[in-house]
Amino acid sequence: MPFTPKNHLIGLDIGSKTLKMSDVSQNRKKGYTLNKFSMINIPNGVIEEGIIKDPETVADAIRELFASQKVKEKNVAVSIGGYSVIVKKIQVQSMTDAELQSAIHLEAEQYIPFDINDVNLDYEVLGESATVANKLDVILVAAKKELVDEYVNLIDLAGFNLCVIDVDAFALQNIYELNSDDSRDTVALIDVGASKTSLNILKGSTSLFMRDVALGCNQINQKIATKASCSLQEAETIKFGGKSSRITAPEIQSLVASVIRDLCLEIRRAIDFFYSTFQDDHINKILVSGGGANIGEFRKSLAMETGVTVEAFNPFAAFSIHDRIDRSFLDQASSQAAICMGLSIRRTDDK
Ligand SMILES: Nc1ncnc2c1ncn2[C@@H]1O[C@H](COP(=O)(O)OP(=O)(O)OP(=O)(O)O)[C@@H](O)[C@H]1O
Ligand SMILES: [Mg+2]
Repeated sequence: MPFTPKNHLIGLDIGSKTLKMSDVSQNRKKGYTLNKFSMINIPNGVIEEGIIKDPETVADAIRELFASQKVKEKNVAVSIGGYSVIVKKIQVQSMTDAELQSAIHLEAEQYIPFDINDVNLDYEVLGESATVANKLDVILVAAKKELVDEYVNLIDLAGFNLCVIDVDAFALQNIYELNSDDSRDTVALIDVGASKTSLNILKGSTSLFMRDVALGCNQINQKIATKASCSLQEAETIKFGGKSSRITAPEIQSLVASVIRDLCLEIRRAIDFFYSTFQDDHINKILVSGGGANIGEFRKSLAMETGVTVEAFNPFAAFSIHDRIDRSFLDQASSQAAICMGLSIRRTDDK
């Protein structure tokens, strides 16, 4: 039995379609080892646009997921994303840490589209601005209190200790950095989930631009459900090749193609916006994760739309894999595991 340090925790990615958990240990000799990874689907509608509509059902699924892997550990890290979470790089007048601590609310107010009293604020000072004298670059994170409370209550209901609340795009960045050599390339990390798409453009290890878009693979199910007058669950089965007399294969193909088009256009828009701010930069590569990364046609279309090489991101590349884990399952699940893996390398005493 390997020694488990006190600050160890389990990564738990609460997706609107699939919950994922992973257990990672770190050892000076062997580096990082993946001890456990598993996923479980939850019914449609229990989480919508990041909002937890049916906490009891999600809590049951979390317990089932942990029990299936015989996880005894209670400390977990989760992440939030989507419309209710704002991440922005801002510039403030140079000041001391203490001054910034009391000034941050006032500074943040102008950048946040919600009432400042309704959000939890966090920030990190990146350092003196390279472009403007006497200014500090600061990363501002604002999340609606309502949303944070939902996650706190959910994890409590499930019977676990919530130690870290991360942001999807940061978790993605952390796991990318762990898996990449110290390249100074500009890379776009894009996670396409069931209901949201999270984008983080990095230069080396600095995040230049982040955006979440309320589009995902579930859009395909919704279109199939409308066309074939069936439930979202049936639509998911049809999407994966299930037979139906109410919709033909070419009709499905054309619906899939139209969602891929919308997704690529939204991503292209975000990238164009990035280029309008960072005119001298060039994105060297796009790494896609989330269930959407499994769609070959999406990867091809995105490469065509953006003119950038697109690859599926493998979050397990830098890990030793415990013998008990089925390798073919890992291969199949690797894109969906990215955010969860980013969470499982956090520790309880992280900032
Ligand atoms: N090969 C595939 N073809 C089409 N869709 C796929 C494929 N593999 C997975 N998906 C879709 O990916 C989605 C699940 O991906 P993922 O686990 O990243 O989502 P999630 O984390 O639950 O959602 P979100 O992060 O948006 O809340 C489902 O909609 C599923 O149908
Ligand atoms: Mg997800």
